[in-house]
Amino acid sequence: MRTKVVAGNWKMNKTAAETRALVAEIRAALGDAGGKAEVVVCPPFTNLQVAAEALKGSKIALGAQNMHWKDAGAFTGEISAAMLRDLGVSHVIIGHSERRQYFAETDATVNEKVKAALAAGLVPIVCVGETLAEREAGKMEAVVTGQVKAGLAGICGCSLAGIVIAYEPVWAIGTGKTATEAQAQEVHALIRKTLADCAGADVAAKVRIQYGGSMNAANAAGLLAQRDIDGGLIGGAALKAADFATIVKAAG
Ligand code: PGA
Repeated sequence: MRTKVVAGNWKMNKTAAETRALVAEIRAALGDAGGKAEVVVCPPFTNLQVAAEALKGSKIALGAQNMHWKDAGAFTGEISAAMLRDLGVSHVIIGHSERRQYFAETDATVNEKVKAALAAGLVPIVCVGETLAEREAGKMEAVVTGQVKAGLAGICGCSLAGIVIAYEPVWAIGTGKTATEAQAQEVHALIRKTLADCAGADVAAKVRIQYGGSMNAANAAGLLAQRDIDGGLIGGAALKAADFATIVKAAG
């Protein structure tokens, strides 16, 4: 059985003081014994150190929202996997649709980043998902399988088992429009089949596939009950401790 993984993507929100406060609220809402699900919070880079301190003694893991694929060098404004590791980061979101849309990330850069994250011992949370126009044009399947294959190209089966994929239909992110349970399950099964074709059924069965896109306290339990939905990547609702805790508890 796959352990469910719920990650909070805080995006460009919260100062250092607000980070300390939100982490404390999440810890209080969850209780430090926690449930069965793996829990990750991903604050902005500037608050990773503060969050690491605030998380000490809890089972909640620390994630970043992006990274560069090189170890070091002349890449103004960028952050390497080694820098993240140094701060106690264990997970990193890669290829979020906002990065693809606003910062020109491509499947090729996603692939470089996933490889670098794995080499550094970070768990990549690799985001894929179609836009509304793509879905309406009947291209969902081609877009999603294409992103999975290109984003994970050249990564061998054994390391593939340790990655997390987040299916985030772009039309559902921050819009309040969630995919239905059936729509989400259909795409999750498609992603698992794509992984099985590339790396074999055993590896595919181990990969956790999160749903993301307006997942909230009210709809989480239904989505998380689907066979191939192994957690959530939560944006807006991750900024409210009580809602985030409800989603984590729905994951077991
Ligand atoms: P949302 O964001 O939950 O606010 O829709 C999810 C995400 O972008 O990761």
